[in-house]
Amino acid sequence: MQHLIKTSDFTKEEILELFEDAKNYKDMKSNKILEGKIIVNLFFENSTRTRSAFETAAKRLGAEVISLDLGTSSRSKGETIFDTVANINATKPDAIIIRHEDSGAPEALSSCVDCPIINAGDGSHAHPTQALLDLFTIMEHFQGNTEGKKIAIVGDAKNSRVAGSNKKLLPRFGMEVVFVAPDCFKYESTTHKQYDNLNEIIDEVDVVMSLRTQLERHNEIYFSSPYEYAKDYCITKDVFGDRDILLMHPGPVNRNIDISDEMLEDKRNKVLEQVTNGVLVRMAILKKLILQK
Ligand code: CP
Repeated sequence: MQHLIKTSDFTKEEILELFEDAKNYKDMKSNKILEGKIIVNLFFENSTRTRSAFETAAKRLGAEVISLDLGTSSRSKGETIFDTVANINATKPDAIIIRHEDSGAPEALSSCVDCPIINAGDGSHAHPTQALLDLFTIMEHFQGNTEGKKIAIVGDAKNSRVAGSNKKLLPRFGMEVVFVAPDCFKYESTTHKQYDNLNEIIDEVDVVMSLRTQLERHNEIYFSSPYEYAKDYCITKDVFGDRDILLMHPGPVNRNIDISDEMLEDKRNKVLEQVTNGVLVRMAILKKLILQK
């Protein structure tokens, strides 16, 4: 059985096929491809975009969705995550979508179930559906031609599962990934170039992806205030100028910390397009994994 724990679970060919399928859903019309199927959402961590996009995707395909309210589940009575998932599995769902604060949780749970597990983000490890929708958005913009394109990922890459997935996925499609961050957020890597300031690289990049500072994963305070970080790393019109560069962010965006209000209104900003594409790509993923032979 095929699960989606990390982007390398899909071959390049499978990803391109997924994207072809995703394009079929651009009209956002509902169909009955997954009629009679039941999908369980288990979000042990907060989510706005991923959870609602998965629910929308499932419902657009005619599936029923059960989103377990983990605040009112028996988890508070001491049940382990393995027992929670074993019990959900015993209800015979057709797929389980899991977000968990511990890196590796969805992978560990995938061996205990009889249906596909989809990783909706685990700790600082991976967020495969986000990286796939990011790649889809970039491909749509460049008419499929990502070979030789360069992306600068700006901010807390060290603690970001979105960066973790994108730095592996995008080079498979010919893109160069570089990081821009203060020393405290630099990702230890010999594979990717790292810069202190976006100005050093802005003339060479095709895409800028800004990241939220992952305060929930920090063990110490790195900046006296978010604005101290923002003065060097907030994406502003001053930094972008008139350059033909895509601006992306996985969300949630901290306004005027990650991206300025002005740049969030700018035509080059793809943030909401990413969210829409997230529904299309997740429709294709659900269809592929649930109807797999
Ligand atoms: N991009 C993303 O994972 O957003 P949410 O945390 O709102 O799901």
